[in-house]
Amino acid sequence: MVEDSLDSVPGDAATARRPPSTFARDTTVTDTSVYERFDREWPDCWADAAALLEWDEPYDEVLDADDAPFYRWFVGGRLNAAENCIDRHLEAGRKNQVAIRWEGKRGERRTYTYYDLHREVTAVAAALRELGVEADDVVTLYLPTVPELPITMLACARIGALHNVVFAGFAPDALLGRMEQDDSSVLVTCDGYFHEGTAVGQKRKADAALAALESTIPTVVVDRLGADHDTQLGADQYAYSALADRFEGATVPPVSRAATDPLFHIHTSGTTGEPQRMTHATGGYLAGTTWTTRAVFDLSPGDTYWCTADMGWITGHSYVVYGPLARGATVVLTEGSLRYPDRHRPWEVIERNAVNVFYTTPGVVRTFMKWGESFPAAHDRSSLRLLGTVGEPIGPDTWEWFYTHVGEERCPIVDTWWQTETGSILLSTLPGVSEMKPGAVGPPLPGIEARAVDENGRELPPGEPGSLTITKPWPSMITPLESDRYWVLAEYWQQFSDRRADTWQYATGDRAVVDDDGYITIIGRDDDVVTIGNRRLGTAELEAAITAVDGVTEAAAVAGSADGDTDLYVFATAEQDLTGREALRESISDAIVDRIGRFASPAAVVFTPELPETHTGKTMYRVLEGIVDDAPLEDSEPLRNPEIVGELTTLWGRN
Ligand code: WT7
Repeated sequence: MVEDSLDSVPGDAATARRPPSTFARDTTVTDTSVYERFDREWPDCWADAAALLEWDEPYDEVLDADDAPFYRWFVGGRLNAAENCIDRHLEAGRKNQVAIRWEGKRGERRTYTYYDLHREVTAVAAALRELGVEADDVVTLYLPTVPELPITMLACARIGALHNVVFAGFAPDALLGRMEQDDSSVLVTCDGYFHEGTAVGQKRKADAALAALESTIPTVVVDRLGADHDTQLGADQYAYSALADRFEGATVPPVSRAATDPLFHIHTSGTTGEPQRMTHATGGYLAGTTWTTRAVFDLSPGDTYWCTADMGWITGHSYVVYGPLARGATVVLTEGSLRYPDRHRPWEVIERNAVNVFYTTPGVVRTFMKWGESFPAAHDRSSLRLLGTVGEPIGPDTWEWFYTHVGEERCPIVDTWWQTETGSILLSTLPGVSEMKPGAVGPPLPGIEARAVDENGRELPPGEPGSLTITKPWPSMITPLESDRYWVLAEYWQQFSDRRADTWQYATGDRAVVDDDGYITIIGRDDDVVTIGNRRLGTAELEAAITAVDGVTEAAAVAGSADGDTDLYVFATAEQDLTGREALRESISDAIVDRIGRFASPAAVVFTPELPETHTGKTMYRVLEGIVDDAPLEDSEPLRNPEIVGELTTLWGRN
């Protein structure tokens, strides 16, 4: 069990692991004193992160807390994010180093050196300008995993415009809501993409959303399907390739941005029915993502890195685009399903590209586990140095499988906890120095302070589960626009903060427990949000789609892992009994697919006479989650209708 390369850990020998010694010798962060130093020198310690970037103007102050909790980082400093991700690498003699290696669904390969990236980003930046985009304008990007997506993101950053990436799997309604909220000036999309061999329309969906917008906006269309598929361009619609050709060789100096200027918007799901707009600021965000890309992923120029996350979510922003490119690494981008054309694909990607660092979700690892160890075993994985997961808890069994059958017991695993709002990783082990406890994410990173608290915001002793809060600000935190401050305050800052004592606690919405060594285990969400894999959906948004179906009176959507994978389960009450249930079930699934997107299709829809409720009429999601996960809650839960729990368990069993 305990291998040569692992020392046993006193007190917890059965589970805790020291990093393999082979790794510790290679890593860039081997200095354990970083924790004490960051503590002692906080907040000035964060100058270490800023020092990884190139600044046009130095900042005057690391942290300005005058307007807490709307903290401002690196005030007075100026920089450009695209310049930090591209130009400075050219100046450092890395023109010919590969920045992006793309592997398309049909076996296509494209390679961009940092110089190629520079040329195309600049051309697209010039084209966007031509379409009228100026600094602080918002450009919505609705693209699958094609190189044009990071390129357009960086083109926006180059001219100081904000990108608003909308996951390509979203339905037109979801795209529309996100475009409207942002007052988008341009949309960039594609004709379609291939799903397991067949062409799926994307522009069709984009056009449906565009038609519902109040004013028309210029649209740029990437040709993903190729010459066999005709695409009609309407008025004010432009082919990406024609624009890129036209502006080939253009000069567009990077626009110098204040550190506190917004870099992008991204929408996530909160406890309200509407998608919530998050804003990340240029300096703090880039410092946070770059610092963690180095400290947690140990990435330096010359390393090859593969992250399976879609760029439509924050993981793709921070750890596909900004962090790895700011570090000058080579990023592997893979389009499409990991099982297409067959189950060897993930291991072929690792072998062919000599991937050093591999970042994915526990759900993906569970899928690999189901397929069996013969698949990774059939490929050379000797390039791998470090593995990481994000998005949901990784159980000890999945961890062990990943460690043994993928990492060959040579590669540490970093289980990284963070959120759209946090911008970068806040909780994780440092791979070269910390012992790993499978199932626990690890301690807060240097400079980060986290707690499990009771409903009054009081810190709980080790071993007692509570709400996870972050008690010191951090550089890559959301910095809401003026107009978003009100709800941001209510949603994240007012829940547990004692303002008289001026101790601001950021409410993460997660439940967690801290152990005697300060290692944190995430239990799940503590609010009305579900995470499916690493996709986060507001139950309110889902339930609005479900109750809009004729005949449905009430609904609750929960995430559960009844079959090992995390899936969405719907509990609903209906007007009539029994007759027409099958049809209603289908209408509910269709409504979710139409309004949210196919990726959110429920694994099951269960009809119940009532939903479990608190005395104040709030749906008790935890009861439903307990039923789905086959871990019923003890009867201490204060329910208005406790008798429904037994009935639901029976109904669930029949499903
Ligand atoms: C929520 C944030 C940040 C990238 C992915 C999703 C859950 C995230 C972990 C982890 C257990 C995790 C939390 C969090 N989560 N990482 N390592 N272990 N749970 O970003 O969509 O903003 O979702 O994902 O519940 O609050 P997001």
